[in-house]
Order: sequence, then structure tokens, then C-alpha cells
Amino acid sequence: MAYMMGIDVGTTGTRAVIVRPDGHVVGAATGDHQPMRMAKPGWAEQDPEDWWQATLVAIRAALELTNVKGSEIAAVGFSGQMHGVVLLDKARSVLRPSLIWCDQRSQAQCDWITQKVGAAQLIQYVSNPALTGFSAPKILWVRDNEPKVYERTAHFLLPKDFVRYRLTGEFATDVSDASGTLLFDVTNRRWSREMLSALEIDSQILPKAFESPEITGEISREVAVLTGLSAGTPVVAGAGDQAASAVGNGIVLPGLTSATLGTSGVIFTYTAAPKLDPRGRIHTFCHAVPGKWHVMGVTQGAGLSLRWFRDNFGQAETWYARQADVDPYELIIREAEKIRPGSDGLLWLPYLMGERTPHLDSQARGMWFGMTAAHTRAHLIRSILEGVAFSLRDSLQIFQELDIPVEQIRASGGGSRSFLWRQIQADIYGKELVTLRTSEGSALGAALLAGVGAKIYASVEESAQEAIQVKESMAPKPENVAAYERYYQVYRGLYPAVQELSHTLAKLGAGEA
Ligand code: XUL
Repeated sequence: MAYMMGIDVGTTGTRAVIVRPDGHVVGAATGDHQPMRMAKPGWAEQDPEDWWQATLVAIRAALELTNVKGSEIAAVGFSGQMHGVVLLDKARSVLRPSLIWCDQRSQAQCDWITQKVGAAQLIQYVSNPALTGFSAPKILWVRDNEPKVYERTAHFLLPKDFVRYRLTGEFATDVSDASGTLLFDVTNRRWSREMLSALEIDSQILPKAFESPEITGEISREVAVLTGLSAGTPVVAGAGDQAASAVGNGIVLPGLTSATLGTSGVIFTYTAAPKLDPRGRIHTFCHAVPGKWHVMGVTQGAGLSLRWFRDNFGQAETWYARQADVDPYELIIREAEKIRPGSDGLLWLPYLMGERTPHLDSQARGMWFGMTAAHTRAHLIRSILEGVAFSLRDSLQIFQELDIPVEQIRASGGGSRSFLWRQIQADIYGKELVTLRTSEGSALGAALLAGVGAKIYASVEESAQEAIQVKESMAPKPENVAAYERYYQVYRGLYPAVQELSHTLAKLGAGEA
């Protein structure tokens, strides 16, 4: 029997899944990462070596758990946290910890890029504005602040592509992940000569960019010994986690949209041609479907909001969950069930790591608004679930403005496991929310891309048709939709009303004012 392996290099861990061609996930295992280091507000770093060790753990455990032999894996595919910067020297050693996707330190570099290239020209070259989330501003931060490190840089890689390098010895990336660097010509699906020359970045440091199902190399002999995979197993390009997750959710045709609640939260939709927001509030990237594109709106602090709550206020649940071997999030969310929609007038702004859609503001800060003595811990929890959904509704609003059709929304990511959070989303989006037979999302998408590379399927579209099935559908409750609509109008007005103060506070917090 031929199986496919998907490897998802995420933020909190690296997951390996083994999948049958009919889409059944035979088994999966995760290697945990060290928590991201946040030495200053808005900074976020991880060690690439840590991803590599977690990858080894995950692959070995997945093979062991399923009793699948390395020789039965037809191909390996990737999904990865996007935008992170891994810099290697000539000897291919990692030069410094990776500045990862949610690192916000590069606002000065973004301003410089916008001034140097011009806002309209940027959209023309790379389809997107300069945002701290993207890779190029982070590379320039290193050039400006750590010139010795920059001088020694011989290779720049995205997170999953560093793991690929270790698995295969090849420097390669894929068009969807490359789209998030701000160095990629999204319309023409190649590195942007214009951007590289404007920013004076040497094109030699970039990996070769492939379409997602293309084979970029094979498992090396040394890695075969370390993992149990067979030497010579093909490794396909794979995709950034959002495009991979879209494949795993079947978002490979017009009109289909997904809402993914991972550490970040993303509303993603397929487009047959590049679709641009002149204000740059949503990202326009290449899709993992060859020759297609997608748009997505990103909220930085989705699952992160709940994890922050768990880590700071959920000690009791975490302790009890460990004893009873249950998920602490389930216990935390259960508390919110008894609170009415709208949390009795309490709103949560989830801007714990600045915000992308719609504000494009690295100095946005989170807050609870509307607190009274009548509010309880349960209200705080419910308001977090609602605030994250409101922030994703902002992306749907922009899709609507741009005439991008959204018919059905597919729920995905860790947050979609919660019934309550799904119902809150359906009610706040005012749309039917669908769940799929497997919730593996990005790792499944990575495996399906491997299947296309191994010719198990003729195309990405065919892989989705064969492997993805809807499990259940949830309709919005009309009475909740009406209540949430009123709360959403307050939510929308809230951040613009405090934006200036938020910037002052962010500077004070960073010791700069
Ligand atoms: C997408 C994004 C996140 C990260 C981490 O633009 O920043 O999805 O890839 O999941």
C-alpha cells in the first residue's frame, strides 16, 4: 500500500501525519517546540534546530505508531509556519535564532521599504504592502542591527524549507510560502528582480521556488537512518501553512472559504486570478494549486489569545487536565457556555501581537472593553472566543467589499475542535459553518501535495475530491446573528477610537517614550 506523509512545521510543534490515498489519516505524531522567545514586547524568536529535532521525533513516532514502513511512504510533503527568517552562513550553519511570523520589530524597515519603493509600486511588484509580519523587513532588520550576521549570510530559508534542507540537502521553497516574503512577484510566480534590486538583497541567497506539488529532492541516506524513512523518497515543495491547510480543507475551487483557528486566525479563499485590495488589508498570495491564487485576512492573536489566558489564568484547569488526561482548553471553554452571546457587554480585542487585517498595525494592543463588577472569569473566556471571531469577521467584510464571493465556510485548526467556538463563529459570520471528516488541515494538505507529486492523484483538485469529505454543517442561529451584529458594530469602532493612544502606550511599554 502506498501512503503519503505530511509534515507541518507549526509554531508550537511539528506534526507528521501518515495518510492513505482515500484521505484517511492512519496516524499522526507531534514533536513539541520550545515556546517562542519574546525578549521584548513584539519580538518572537525560535531556534531552527528545535524544529529539526521536533521533526525527527514526529516522523519516527508517526512511523512507529502506525507500523507503516518507510518504504511504503510514496512521498513527503510540507506545510510550514510562514514568513520566518532563517539565515545560514557559507558552511550552512544557522547564524542566529529565527525571527518568526509574528515578530513585530521591523516597523522602521517597513517604513523604509514603502518610502524607497513607493506604496503603489510595491503592490505592482509583489502584490502586497510592507508589513512587519513578512520576511523582507525582518531580513533588513538584521542588516540594520546585526551587520556582522548579515555579512556572513549565504542563504535565506523559510522555516519548513530549513527542515527540507536538513531532510534532502536541497535549498528550495514553494510559490505560496515565497509569496509571504515580500520578495516574490506573486502575479508571475517568480522572485521579483525589481524588489531585490530596490532593497539591495542578493538573489543568490534565495532558494529556488517550485509549484507546491513539484518534487524538490529526496530523503538523504543519513536522514533515512535517523528517521526510518527510505533513502530516495521524493520530497515535494509543499506550501505555507495557510495554503496547505486550504488544500487539506478542499479550498481548491471558487466560492469555498476556510476559517482557521491556529495560533493565528485566517480567513482564506481561492481565486482564479490575483485579486488585489488596493489598501493592502488582505494578502494576495500564490495558491498551492499550480497557476492559481488566494486571498487571506490574518488575525495575529487567535488561538494565541486563549493560550495566553490558559497560561496566565488557567493554572487550575491545566493542573486538573494533566491529572485527568483531558484537554485544558476543553475545561476552560466549558466555563463560557453558560454566558449569553455578547458576554453581557464585554469585548475582547485580540491584538496581543499587533494586528494585520484590517489595521496593518504592529503597535495595536489587546484589551478588554466594557468590564463591570458583574463580569466573571467565564465572561472573560467567552469574550475571548467572540473577539477572535469578530476579528476574523473583519476579513469577511473586506472580501464582501471586494466582491469576493463567500458561500460556505469550512472550520479548521485547533480552535475548530470546540463546538461552542464553532457556533460562535457561525453566528458572528452569519454563514453556514462546515466541519470536515478530518481536522488535520495543513498536515493533511501537505500529504495530499505529496500524493500529487507521487502521481497518486492527477491534480490537487483531484486529491481534494478523493480525500476530503464534509462531516457536519452548522447553521447560524438567527437570534444570535442579530445580537452579534449589534456587538460587531461596537467592536469595529473600538480600535480606530483608541489607535493613537495604543501607539503611545506601545512606545511607553517598549521604553521608547
Ligand atoms: C500567515 C501567518 C500564519 C503563520 C503561522 O500569513 O502568518 O499563518 O504562518 O501559522
